Formats: sequence, structure tokens, C-alpha cells
Amino acid sequence: MSFDLVFFGGTGDLTWRKLMPALFQAFRHGKLPEGGRILAVARDDQTDERYREWLKERFREVEAGKRPSDEEFERFAALVHYKRMDLSQPEHYQGLKDWLDARNADTVVLYLATSPHLFTGICQQLGAVGLNHDKVRVVLEKPLGHDLASAQEINRTVRSVFAERQAFRIDHYLGKPSVQNLMALRFGNALFEPLWRRESIANIQITLAEQLGVGTRGAFYDGTGALRDMIQNHALQLLTMIAMEPPASNDADAIRDEKLKVLRALKPFTRESVSRDVVRGQYRAGMCGGQPAPGYLEEVKVPADSACETFVALRTEVENWRWAGVPFYLRTGKRLAARDAQIVVNFRPVPHQIFPGASLPNRLVIKLQPEDGLELQLLAQKGAGAGEQLTPVSLDLDFDKAFATHRVGAYERLLLDAIAGRLNLFVRSDEQEQAWRWVEPILDAWAADGNGPRPYAAGSWGPAAASALVARDGFSWAEEQ
Ligand code: BG6
Repeated sequence: MSFDLVFFGGTGDLTWRKLMPALFQAFRHGKLPEGGRILAVARDDQTDERYREWLKERFREVEAGKRPSDEEFERFAALVHYKRMDLSQPEHYQGLKDWLDARNADTVVLYLATSPHLFTGICQQLGAVGLNHDKVRVVLEKPLGHDLASAQEINRTVRSVFAERQAFRIDHYLGKPSVQNLMALRFGNALFEPLWRRESIANIQITLAEQLGVGTRGAFYDGTGALRDMIQNHALQLLTMIAMEPPASNDADAIRDEKLKVLRALKPFTRESVSRDVVRGQYRAGMCGGQPAPGYLEEVKVPADSACETFVALRTEVENWRWAGVPFYLRTGKRLAARDAQIVVNFRPVPHQIFPGASLPNRLVIKLQPEDGLELQLLAQKGAGAGEQLTPVSLDLDFDKAFATHRVGAYERLLLDAIAGRLNLFVRSDEQEQAWRWVEPILDAWAADGNGPRPYAAGSWGPAAASALVARDGFSWAEEQ
């Protein structure tokens, strides 16, 4: 199967930091289909050769294990081409179409790795020159909109040019191996599904913690904040994977229909519930990962009086028969105590205790990063004699060790899926809009609340109010147990 993969924003950060290295990994491991061309499109006037040299330099900044040798780069670079385009010029789209038509590959993937405000203009121009025919797929990077209205506007334009099955909306968390394993865990094993409900589960915690600050992205981040950057997309997508009903098949729409139902069942926020159930924070200077870290307001291109949140913790519920009354806690933040993304499923305690001492309920930890695995916490007896208290033990499965072969990274997975036309791990427009609909009352309540975010020290687990949020229900965050 021949394919042409075009990166709009061909000299941008996303292209050289994530997309090209991911493609190179696919190439190195023989996963990239034969007969492919990769075309970087950007405004600079340069040749294929100069672009390849530039890309080679950029690869030096990629983590060592993922860097090509000179010989590997030569072979990979032979697939890479460059085309100058001014995205506001209709005739430049015609030039692109001519370039693509000259080969007439089986599949054309147009990846919009540009600033999202260009998406509608690019899609319209692509449509105008006929670059929306059956063989074409368009990949849209997040952030897809800033609120419901802007997301709907983008979707309207995309829909006026492409069919929904041609639109691949990326949420790179869905490409992470452990997230795919979540589907396998729930729907490939009979063990957990009978327990996966309110009768056995006390609460579920989704934590996406980062140690990094906003770095050089201050200007972008300050107009975005943690709720839009991480909760509206990544955290909610994880929640849908945890809470969804078993889909009838592994088809994209069967899965996405079930995810949408979860989003629709999320308890809507009101002004009162936002002030009770949502905590926003902003980091101050502190020690993070053993290094002194500046506060958010000292970061480059961040206004000194910014009220942008760099931390969010919230409590919600999925209002249906399976989950009624089970709290789902979602938490994300920059400059936290650890880089740690995980989902913790806390089971209910045993109904009747026959062993001495306090009983610890079972817990399933789905680890997304830095490790990628599963940990099931149980209680056991050491055999030390009568009257012994039970001891917590864990069944620990490290997927990297269990599957010694190369594990496909998130962008690599998603790029290969876009080329192959598999939509399972991409977000449908109705899911995305529903997520905005749910998040908006929080944004509105914050806009009307002059109190602003609560400060927390860099290197901590966020404001104390985040612990209080969970403690109110008689629970605690995983690291506090
Ligand atoms: C991106 C956010 O979507 O995800 C970033 O815009 C964040 O702010 C990143 O740092 C986290 O991704 P990962 O894969 O490193 O957890």
C-alpha cells in the first residue's frame, strides 16, 4: 500500500520533536508500510536536501535510544521531502495537489500540526482544490478549540469538507500502550468485568501529574490552563475507557458510541458544585525533582498577575446504573511531586472482617507512565503464626519486561493507524463537543469567581484543598495511603 503523509507545520516543534521521531521508530522496526513518502510543508524556501540536513540536526536532540545512526538516517531521509507553502495562498494548495496527484498513492494523510486557528482555513482550501477525495484523511492535533463554540466551528468546517470517517482527531493519550491495554484488561479478560461496578468499587482516581513546568510554552499555556490542556481531553478520555459499557465489537464507532454515553452521563456542574467539587491551583517556587523551580508567575511570557490554573482536581460521578454514587476523582498538574500518570481503582472493603487488624481494600493500579503496567494489591498471610495480621502484597506486571519486543509509542501507534485508516484510537466530533459541554460550566464559574487559583509549592501534590476534596468522602489519594 503506497501512502503520502503530509505534515503542515513541517518545521514546527511537534513535527521534529514527536512526529518525525515516531515515524523513524516505525521505520526502524519495519512497521512503516513500504512505498511511503513523507512531505513536510512550511513557509521557508528550501530544498529537500536542506530540510533533511535540518532534520538530522534536530534528531540530535531526541533521546539517545531513539536517535538514528547516520546510515539509518540516510535511509529514512530518502522518504522525506519538503515543499514550500504559504497557507493563505490558494495556488499553493493546487501545487500540493499536483505533487500528490503525480504519484496517486493509495492513501494520502494530511496532518495539521499547525496552530489550531489555521485549521478551518486549511480545510477550506484543501476542499477547494479537491484534496478531500476518498483516499484522503485529515489528522487534527489538539487543542481542538478553546470552548464548545470554537470546537463546533472547527467541526462544522471539517464536516463541510471531509466525511467523519476521514477525520482523525488526535488525543495522544489514547495511543499510549497502557491505555490500549485497559481495553484488553476489561474486555479481553472475564476476571474483572463482574467486579467493574458500584457494588464492588468504592472510588476511581485518575492522576496525570507532571514534574515539568510550562517551560517555553508560557504564552500558549496562559491562554489555556490545565482544565483545557489535560482534563477536557486526556483525563476525560481515560475516564470514558474506564467507565464505558462493553462495546459490541472492536469497531471504531461501537467504541466511540459507548464512550459518548459515558460523557453524556457525567454529572453536570453548577456554580455551587464547582466551588465544592473542583480545586484549581497555581504553582509557586519550590524544589521539584531535587532542583529549585521558579513559580508560574516568574515563567517566561506569563503575565505577573495571571490567574491561569496549572493544577486541577475534581470530583465527578457517572450517573447510570453501573456507577451511581461512585466518586471519580480527576487530577492533573504541572510541577508536582512526581511524573506519574495512573488510574487507581479502589475496591470496597470486605463485608465482614475475620482477621485481626485493619483491613486494606484491594486496589488495581493501571500505570501509564513512567512505567507501563498493572499492579493488583491484595492481602496475604506470611504464615508467621496465629493472630497474624494480613500483609499487603502486590501482583505487579511490567509490560515493558513482559513484552520484551519493541513497544509501539503513542505517536507511532497513532500515525500508523491514520495511515491504515483505523479510527479506534481517535476522537469523534460528538465526543469532543460533549467533553467541552461538560467542562464549560467550570470555566464559567471560574471566570465569575475573583478568588483565583490556590497557590501550591512546586514539588508538592498541589493545594491541600485537593486532599480535602477526597477526604470529605472518607477516601484519600493513592500517595497518601
Ligand atoms: C499535552 C499537553 O497534550 O500533553 C502538555 O499540552 C503536556 O501540556 C502533555 O505536557 C503531556 O503528555 P505526556 O505524554 O508527556 O504525559
